[in-house]
Amino acid sequence: MESPHKPKPLSISLFYLFLLLSTNLLTLFISTNFYSPCSLSAANTASVTIPASTTTAHHLTHSTLDEDQTTSDLPAEFLAFTSAQKLKFGFNTNMDSDRIIPPVGRPCTQFPNELRRYMSYKVNGSCPDDELLAQKLLLKGCEPLPRRRCRPAAQPEYVEPYPLPTSFWTTPSDKSVVWTAYTCKNYQCLIDRMKTQKGFDDCKDCFDLQGREKARWTKPPVSGGLDFSIDEVLAVKKPGTIRIGLDIGGGVATFAIRMKARNITIITTSMNLNGPFNSFIAARGVIPMYISISQRLPFFDNTLDIVHSMHVMSNWIPTTLLHFMLFDIYRVLRPGGLFWLDHFFCVGDELEDVYVPLINSIGFQKVKWVLGPKLDRGAELREMYISALLEKPLKHSW
Ligand SMILES: *[C@@H]1O[C@H](CO)[C@@H](O)[C@H](O)[C@H]1NC(C)=O
Ligand SMILES: *[C@@H]1O[C@H](CO)[C@@H](O)[C@H](O)[C@H]1NC(C)=O
Repeated sequence: MESPHKPKPLSISLFYLFLLLSTNLLTLFISTNFYSPCSLSAANTASVTIPASTTTAHHLTHSTLDEDQTTSDLPAEFLAFTSAQKLKFGFNTNMDSDRIIPPVGRPCTQFPNELRRYMSYKVNGSCPDDELLAQKLLLKGCEPLPRRRCRPAAQPEYVEPYPLPTSFWTTPSDKSVVWTAYTCKNYQCLIDRMKTQKGFDDCKDCFDLQGREKARWTKPPVSGGLDFSIDEVLAVKKPGTIRIGLDIGGGVATFAIRMKARNITIITTSMNLNGPFNSFIAARGVIPMYISISQRLPFFDNTLDIVHSMHVMSNWIPTTLLHFMLFDIYRVLRPGGLFWLDHFFCVGDELEDVYVPLINSIGFQKVKWVLGPKLDRGAELREMYISALLEKPLKHSW
């Protein structure tokens, strides 16, 4: 362990100082040039870039040094966004600060090339059509992505969604989506892809609303089966007490649609993995949230009545990350709230060695707990499912 009092060699200190100064001069230079067309923002930025010296630049210097980079390599718009900005009315007791430092994922600066591409655009112009780049950057850990000052790619002739309740089960117009990032270039292709395309795709058959999607969570439950029905789950609590919740990695949000029919509001997190999941969810008339499984859930402690997750939470997630994720779910659930872990899967011994102890350790009470073999890829792989309904204790949950 390094002693905190160990003095830094003078050469390193000087190097930092050099970086600090060069970065801030650069920021100042870039921003004053960038904003010169607009006198209003030019005035803002001049006051904005100066305080950066003490905080942001120093922080950036550290993370970028690891990558043998300097902040001067970072795009001007990135620095403009992430630099500390002085509060107009001075010290704020809520913040305990006189400045605000807009957030991005700490790993952003570890990917300077992608970041540079992402943050290169004309201010007040059209953003590049770069969804795939943005998503890769985000999934690698640059989450949240930095804000941009440009207009996102959109269809030239956007078609508005169908009205409720038609929108729930009707395929939206192709003209509500920018298709650049996906193999398919229209919804019919996505509906057909189970039959017409080889290879794996996340939620491959989900866009076919008349297919398997139609029946999910509505079938009468089989005793001891892995498929719980929504009504069976809701029956665990007093009628009407499950009102708001979250579906993590919820595909095309059929769970939220089914819950909406029961007057329950569900937010669905989803990525756009080779399909316009977020646009599709929104077009159906429920709320998509574009965050990865790594991101802290943007809800306050003890607030949600239910959290559901199917498919995404499985043994592909690094165990430490999964441990944090389970505690985060516990955090946002209110006491008495339900965590429906739907078809978690893993292989053979992992189940008893890793996952059962991990899930048991969080503090949930088991309402339903079913283990069963996963056979779709053959029994010899010894893949196992867990379907569980877990309840955060009403008392002493802390
Ligand atoms: C920003 O863009 C809009 C729309 O293109 C334009 O009307 C406006 O004049 C621009 N503002 C500045 C300050 O360039
Ligand atoms: C949903 O709420 C509406 C309006 O409050 C009500 O009329 C309807 O019966 C509710 N539906 C269910 C399934 O609870």
